[in-house]
Amino acid sequence: MQLPFFTKAGNPIHDRCKKDAATKMRLKYAPYYHAMEQQHGTSVKLQGRDMIMLSSNDYLGLSFHPKVIEAGRAALLKWGSSTTGARISNGSRSYHLQLEGKLAAFLGREACHVHAAGYLSCLSGVAAFAQKGDIILADKNIHSCLWDGIRLSTATVERFSHNNPDDLRAVAASLPAATPKMMVVEGVYSMEGHIARLPELIAIAKEHACFNVIDDAHGFGVLGHQGRGTVDHFGLNADVDLICGSMSKSLASTGGFVAGSRELIDYLRTHGKHTIFSAALSPSQAACAEAALDVMQTEPEHLERLRANRKTYTAMLKSLGLDTWDSETPAVPIVIGSAERAYAFWKALLEKGVFTVMALSPAVPPGKDLIRTAISAGHTDEQLARIAEAMSYAAKKI
Ligand SMILES: Cc1ncc(COP(=O)(O)O)c(C=O)c1O
Repeated sequence: MQLPFFTKAGNPIHDRCKKDAATKMRLKYAPYYHAMEQQHGTSVKLQGRDMIMLSSNDYLGLSFHPKVIEAGRAALLKWGSSTTGARISNGSRSYHLQLEGKLAAFLGREACHVHAAGYLSCLSGVAAFAQKGDIILADKNIHSCLWDGIRLSTATVERFSHNNPDDLRAVAASLPAATPKMMVVEGVYSMEGHIARLPELIAIAKEHACFNVIDDAHGFGVLGHQGRGTVDHFGLNADVDLICGSMSKSLASTGGFVAGSRELIDYLRTHGKHTIFSAALSPSQAACAEAALDVMQTEPEHLERLRANRKTYTAMLKSLGLDTWDSETPAVPIVIGSAERAYAFWKALLEKGVFTVMALSPAVPPGKDLIRTAISAGHTDEQLARIAEAMSYAAKKI
């Protein structure tokens, strides 16, 4: 019998996949999809070698915190592995409401909705509220989930230069005053580590009656009092419409949230297709996030350690003359410039036992090919010293 594998010739989509140059390049150089064999905090094992993880988003280092692990284990025993359903139908549980209540209170919002992925939350936070005929003003460097939300909303999009209030002002001034508008920005830019210039951006948005959505996936846990995020960092709680984010970073879980007024969250639950037609956040993931949120408020040492580690790490990179793109947060890019040099740098770090991630154009602007690193509260002094050694070695390779 002929295997189905051999009968696919002539199918244009199979042909496209077979010939795809980007996939061939990825498989040839193999920089992505590395599967670690073991992990404990910032230590991982890859192909039998002990390595330091320097690119996870476990900013506060809580993914192995005993209280987080125990909460996940207890929830699994109490609620099972999954609700196997969407929130609107059979998938809502009291633990969702409990987590949403705690997140809303932490963020100074009336209400919150949690999803099974941050990607869904941020996408839904845009797509559910904007519609055809609206105009969305978007920072050019926002995350892919926000672009997907914009596309699915079918609103018109107007881009402004990255983190540039003057450009936002100019673009907004050129638009018809009566058209409903939305501004979409990140609180902390995941690739660049830049903090959004929220006070100026929001002031301009308000002048133009522009609804604002802040994706704070990388500001949550990192900025503001106890890690309340970028909005709290600037004291802008009263001026922000929606905060969306991820629980796969400082909250050491998976899933995401959208937080806002009660009216907005009720509207999201009526109109957000990704909110309505996707299965609920699983019990153990919700419990881990909730426990991490409690730890953030009761154990300030994690945030203090993160801030100290970031200082040490960025000072070391600067002493080596490496370009960190003016990152102000624990998401620290090392801009190398070209794909070839970035690959050499990334490989040298790997050789020295430091795991990082390469980000190449078009994922970053042309000429900004970079190594994306992220420092964690979990990095020890000894690991920081080994990272410094590896960086010095890699810097000599380019
Ligand atoms: C800015 C930003 N928003 C949203 C997401 C999506 O979050 P998740 O990975 O939890 O789906 C990410 C993930 O990398 C992100 O960086």
